[in-house]
Amino acid sequence: TVLVLDFGSQFSHLLTRRMREFSIYAEMLPCTQKLSDLSWSPVGIILSGGPYSVYEEMAPHVDPAFLDLNVPVLGICYGMQELAYRLSKDNVVAGTAREYGHADLKATRVSGHVDRLFEGLEDNMRVWMSHGDKLAKLPEGFHTIAITRNSEFAAIGHETKPIYAIQFHPEVTHTIGGNQLLKNFAVNICNAKQSWTMASFVDQTIARIRKLVGPEGQVLGAVSGGVDSTVAAKLMHEAIGTRFHAVMVDNGCLRLNEAEQVKKTLTEHLGINLTVVDASVQFLDGLKGITDPEKKRKFIGGKFIDIFEEEVKKIEDAAANSDRAGKIEWFLQGTLYPDVIESISFKGPSQTIKTHHNVGGLPKLMTEGHGLKLIELRELFKDEVRELGRNLGLHEDLVMRHPFPGPGIAIRVLGEVTPERVEIARQADFHFINMIREKGLYNQIGQAFAALDPSRAVGVMGDKRVYQYIIILRAVQTYDFMTANSYPFDSDFLAEVATRITNEVAGVCRVVYDVTSKPPGTIELE
Ligand code: XMP
Repeated sequence: TVLVLDFGSQFSHLLTRRMREFSIYAEMLPCTQKLSDLSWSPVGIILSGGPYSVYEEMAPHVDPAFLDLNVPVLGICYGMQELAYRLSKDNVVAGTAREYGHADLKATRVSGHVDRLFEGLEDNMRVWMSHGDKLAKLPEGFHTIAITRNSEFAAIGHETKPIYAIQFHPEVTHTIGGNQLLKNFAVNICNAKQSWTMASFVDQTIARIRKLVGPEGQVLGAVSGGVDSTVAAKLMHEAIGTRFHAVMVDNGCLRLNEAEQVKKTLTEHLGINLTVVDASVQFLDGLKGITDPEKKRKFIGGKFIDIFEEEVKKIEDAAANSDRAGKIEWFLQGTLYPDVIESISFKGPSQTIKTHHNVGGLPKLMTEGHGLKLIELRELFKDEVRELGRNLGLHEDLVMRHPFPGPGIAIRVLGEVTPERVEIARQADFHFINMIREKGLYNQIGQAFAALDPSRAVGVMGDKRVYQYIIILRAVQTYDFMTANSYPFDSDFLAEVATRITNEVAGVCRVVYDVTSKPPGTIELE
C-alpha cells in the first residue's frame, strides 16, 4: 500500500485514484496522521500539495517518523516545500508571483540519463503548476532532476536516498506524462504490488465493514436511489444483511415516480432492507417562504435529521420487541470525492462552494448529535463507483443513472419552493429526460434536468396571451462533476423538447437552454 498524506490540495484524491489505475492500492490519510497510530507499513509515501505556506504558524507538518522509515517519498508542491523546509527553514520563500497553469519542464540528463522518475518520458514535457511559494535553494543532499524557465528546482532528487520532490502536479490530466511519472515512482521506485482489482476491493470492503460493525452491530444509512448510495447500501447488505437499515426519505422534491421505483429496485431486485418515509408535506410546508439556496439546503438537511431520528427510534423500538439486540450504533456515509472536496477540505481554505447536505450536515449531526459512529465509503470516483456497481450486480440503468442532489427539485426551483412549482419542474424534467433517452443520448450526458424560473414570461397560446413560468434545461458533459461543459444538443432537439414541454406541461410558456460551463456556473442552478 502506498500512503498519500493529504495536505489539503483539491487534487490529493487524484493521487489515490491514479494508483488504482495502476492496480496499486493506496490510502489517503490527513497530513496530521502519526506513524505510531498506523497499523500497516507503507511501501512508499506521497506528500500532497496544499493551500498553506510551510512557514506559516498554522501550517501543517508531516510526522517526521514517516521520513525515518526509509521508504521512498515523493513530495508534490506543498509536499516539496515541506521536505525542503524540514531540512532548513531558509530553503523555502514566497515566490514573487504565483505560478498557475502550464509550464515547460525539461528533465536534466546526467551522463546521458534522465533520473528514473522521468524514465520513459519525453525530455521536454508540459506540466501544470499551481503555487505561490518556491524553493530558494537546493536542499542539502539533493540535486536538480528537472527545470522550467521559472525554476531551477522544478524537480529534485536526493543523491543517495529515494526521496523526490516536484513543484508541479503530476496527478492532474493537464500534466502530460504525469501518469507515467507517478507510475515510475510507485512501481519502479517503491516496488508497490500491482494486484488491486475492483473484486478485491469488494472483498476488502466487506471484510472491513464486518470487522468494524462486529457480529451484532446495526447500521442505519440514507439512500436516494442514486448509484452511490445504492452501491454503498448493497455493500452493507452483502456484509451484514438485515442489520443494515436503509432509509429513503421522500422530501416531496423527488423526480416523477422516484420513490416507488427506488423501493422496487432496492427491495425486490437487490434485497436491501429499506424503509421509505413519506415526509413530503413536512418538507414542502417548511420550505414556504425560504428563497436563499443555502437556507433551503440547511432546512432540508435539518429536516432529514429529524426524520432520521424518528426512524432510528422506530427501528430500535421494533427491534426491542423482537429477539434482536436493538441499538443502532452506526451511520453509513457513502459519498463521492467531488462532493467531499466541495463541501469540506482539510481545515478549510479550499473554500466551501456549496454545503452538499449529504456530506456537510447529516453525518456530523447523526454522529455528534446522536452518538452514532460513522462508517465511510468514500474512496471512489463516479466512474469507479459505477464499475463497482456492475461488480455487485446492479442493473445497467441504475449504474448509469445521472446523479440527483439530496435537496432534489427544491434547488431546481429558483427562489421560493411551492408544491405547484415543484410539480411543474418535475413534469418538465420527465419530458426532457424521456426525450434524451429516446434519442439515445442519456449515457453521453453526465447530468441533465429541468429547473424552473419563477419569474414569468409572456407567451401566446391558443390565440390567448399567457404569462407563465420559464423552464431552464441544463445538460452537462463532465468527467468528474468538478468541471463541466454544456451538452451541445442540435437545434432540432432543442426545438422539439421546447414544443413538447410547452404542450405537455401546464403553466410553462417558455423553455430556455443553459449553455454555461462550470466554472463559472455550477451544475445545479442553486
Ligand atoms: P454543483 O451544482 O455544485 O454540483 O456543480 C455538483 C454535483 O453535486 C450535486 N449537488 C448536490 N448533491 N446535495 C447533494 O447531494 C446537494 O446539496 C447538492 N448540490 C449539488 C449536483 O447535482 C452535481 O451532481
